[in-house]
Amino acid sequence: MIKFPDTFVWGASTASYQIEGSVEADGRAPSIWDTFSRTPGAVVGGHTGDDACDHYRRYRDDVALMAGLGLHAYRFSIAWPRVRPGGDGPTNERGLDFYDRLVDELCQYGITPMPTLYHWDLPQALEDRGGWANRRTAEAFAEYATAVHDRLGDRVQSWTTLNEPWCSAYLGYGNGVHAPGRRDPAAAFAAVHHLLLAHGLGTQALRAAGARSVGLVVNPVAVRPADPASAADADAVRLIDGLHNRIFLGPVLGDGYPADVLEHLTRLVDPTWLGESDEKIIAAPIDLLGINYYNPVYVASRPGAPEVDGRYPGVRDVEFRDPTGPTTAMGWEIDPTGLGELLRRLHRDHPGTPLWVTENGAAFDDRITGDHIPDDDRVSYLDGHLRAVHAALSDGVDVRGYLAWSLLDNFEWAEGYHKRFGLVHVDYRTQRRTLKDSALWFRSVIARNALPSQVTDPPA
Ligand code: FCB
Repeated sequence: MIKFPDTFVWGASTASYQIEGSVEADGRAPSIWDTFSRTPGAVVGGHTGDDACDHYRRYRDDVALMAGLGLHAYRFSIAWPRVRPGGDGPTNERGLDFYDRLVDELCQYGITPMPTLYHWDLPQALEDRGGWANRRTAEAFAEYATAVHDRLGDRVQSWTTLNEPWCSAYLGYGNGVHAPGRRDPAAAFAAVHHLLLAHGLGTQALRAAGARSVGLVVNPVAVRPADPASAADADAVRLIDGLHNRIFLGPVLGDGYPADVLEHLTRLVDPTWLGESDEKIIAAPIDLLGINYYNPVYVASRPGAPEVDGRYPGVRDVEFRDPTGPTTAMGWEIDPTGLGELLRRLHRDHPGTPLWVTENGAAFDDRITGDHIPDDDRVSYLDGHLRAVHAALSDGVDVRGYLAWSLLDNFEWAEGYHKRFGLVHVDYRTQRRTLKDSALWFRSVIARNALPSQVTDPPA
């Protein structure tokens, strides 16, 4: 048996817009995802989060499901447009009532609530005033954070500010694949900065309100050279690593924006938004860093290659290689070594920051046979990644917990409902929940606090 530390925390993650539905209930106003998902062609199948998993009404059953799996912790996100429908201005107490009930329900089962304050559903009213490209949004975030803490802070100990600011900035404002669907490098970089500032101001606000533990959730990627012997490929790796990882980790962990990253972005845009004292605010000490990990990427230098889309604004002469190994239904390469690599790197470069795996999991085309969902491929994915976490722990990396993505099948953003990441299957017609084999497997891992010594191989 491969034992985990006694204090290791097991859990699962979700996000508000992906599961809640009830988008007009109790005073909620539209978010950028409501608007975006209604834009023709934006989301596969024209799907929206209008109904999603109907979790807003079924949260009691869902919490009971979590308890049945033995989860120690549940990471969910709070919908800003429920709490502050206008983005700033008055708090909508009815919106907070929902999270109040949810937190109570979790506490009743002894499940630790781990809310994330922002998982991509910006109030549309703020987007109408420039969204994350506008500095004011960062201030509004801190005010919203205070309002949430005022209501939940007596029971919630552990907070994270933002989920994956890389996606919000570059997919939202760079290549427009996510809401609000803008394609503007200047706005994308301004969004990076204002998201980081929101994290810093939000952290200050939560601490001032008495929060014990505050952190951030990022999606660092293991960037690898197509040819390990090529110096040009190493340069391409450095560039992408800078724009994906170091642009966030540097400022948050106290090292400021890396010089090469600043040089790249000042060639493209005039960073008038860089306030003198911002870096100090952004570097507010954190108690945990959440890592969402799915797959590594391989890059090569290729002079003449067209500009990579706005996911990496201004990047030319660089090619992303197609995966060569097995992939998930998202086309993402399955390689747990990337997770181990990132955990070790963060521990080495930023010692003293407790790490959490706040998301990890896979979409596969699940087969349903009667009441049974034999998702051996997902079991194998989770098993492999948990072995990587365990190996990192054995090397002394301070990993405190593992939260699987996701508890439920849900609205997978631009992919709609076609991609299923859940441990629990959702029949969107009836809202019936069925535990997949991976949920049963995860339950037994949690119960034993250990993995079986035998590796779970992927199905042939
Ligand atoms: C992450 C998101 C999460 C989910 C997974 C598959 O980037 O944080 O909401 O969509 O990917």
